[in-house]
Amino acid sequence: MTDETALPDPNARTEVRHVADPTAVRVAGYLAEPEEVSRVLLLYSGGLDTSVMLKWIQDEYEAEVVALTINLGQPGEDYEVVRGKALRLGALDCHVVDAREEFAHEYVLPAIKANANYGDGYPLFTALGRPLIAKLAVDYARETGCDTIAHGCTGKGNDQVRIESTIATLAPELKVIAPVRSWQMGRDEEIAYARANGIPVKGGTESAPYSIDDNLWGRSSEGKWIEDLSHAPDDDVFQLVTRPELAPDEPETVQITFEAGVPVAIDGEALGLVELLDRAAELGCRHGVGIVDHIEDRIVGLKVRDIYEVPAAALILTAHSELERLCGTIHQNQFKPRLDQQWAYLVYAGLWWEPLRTDIEAYVERVNERVTGTIGLKLFKGSVRVVTRESPNAVYDASLASFAQSGGLFSQHASPGFIEIWSLQSRMAHRLRES
Ligand code: ARG
Repeated sequence: MTDETALPDPNARTEVRHVADPTAVRVAGYLAEPEEVSRVLLLYSGGLDTSVMLKWIQDEYEAEVVALTINLGQPGEDYEVVRGKALRLGALDCHVVDAREEFAHEYVLPAIKANANYGDGYPLFTALGRPLIAKLAVDYARETGCDTIAHGCTGKGNDQVRIESTIATLAPELKVIAPVRSWQMGRDEEIAYARANGIPVKGGTESAPYSIDDNLWGRSSEGKWIEDLSHAPDDDVFQLVTRPELAPDEPETVQITFEAGVPVAIDGEALGLVELLDRAAELGCRHGVGIVDHIEDRIVGLKVRDIYEVPAAALILTAHSELERLCGTIHQNQFKPRLDQQWAYLVYAGLWWEPLRTDIEAYVERVNERVTGTIGLKLFKGSVRVVTRESPNAVYDASLASFAQSGGLFSQHASPGFIEIWSLQSRMAHRLRES
């Protein structure tokens, strides 16, 4: 007889939970058990999910809720309205934090320097915002004596990974609950719960809204027909960027100036970073620039289609990468995109606090020390095109065409000798294959 007690029973369930989802097992140490929850810091947007959560947490956990709303430059948000709503729904308090400066300087700027563009189209605005949001949640949870942080992410996306890995990294003493992931309410039940609890529901049941996330670096829409890959974008999804067919008939040329990789001026006017990103977004929006219809490999297995509106990124990243290549050697220009790609992947994948990110940034910073100059962009009906370049650090010299004028740096007469040596192995290998 074998000793069965030595082997774990693969069908055995550890500890069954009873509060939110009776079939759920505790699969991570940072998830809160109901008895551990007495005061919750809720990441509150003012939308339906987090409003329902605000009430639901008080009912289900008999816990107090402190709401935290973070301004990352979402256009058109009225934070006094959001705060009033949280207080009406029973929050002990609702802190509204303007984190635009920190977001722009500490999160978006490194992304610009790394030309961050995941999967050839997604400039990572959501992925960059989540670690900051979660970090602020940790700060405010500690300040207000909360034991638990609640967020409104589902179990299907990347955002849960970004938020929870940040909390688990920065605050091992804090617990997490993610009601939308665990409460098993469908959309209709959620709306019914909202109505029963006096939570205003926009748009009625039949017209489910797009799932939107936005900040000063871009806006994404998911859901509805977007999930149907054969469905071309409906016009109503574009709430930020003018549709190219409606953009002005006259092109506009804009000059973007960088100092050591930092965008510092538009058309010669010096601007702080937040203001500059707003200005770039405005220009892009007017000319229909920055619309991306993207299929993306999520870290959570699935592929997803997103409609992105990224007007600021379309201008700034185009100009930055152009200037960087102008100031770099062929070898630097071949090497850096590999590091940039790794940087973008770590950030996309929710590992903002992984030391490899800052290791890569050390190199990225070093390269950006020389990225100074001005790039002219022509904007016209959805397109952005580099038309002029100027830099004191350009590895470029128009006089190289003439040996005399170039001060002996380069002689075209030497080229045949170079060609013979450069092509030597290829010629030998070719001959072997021919014989
Ligand atoms: N697909 C993008 C990402 O994973 C955007 C997600 C937007 N989030 C949202 N809740 N709608 O970063």
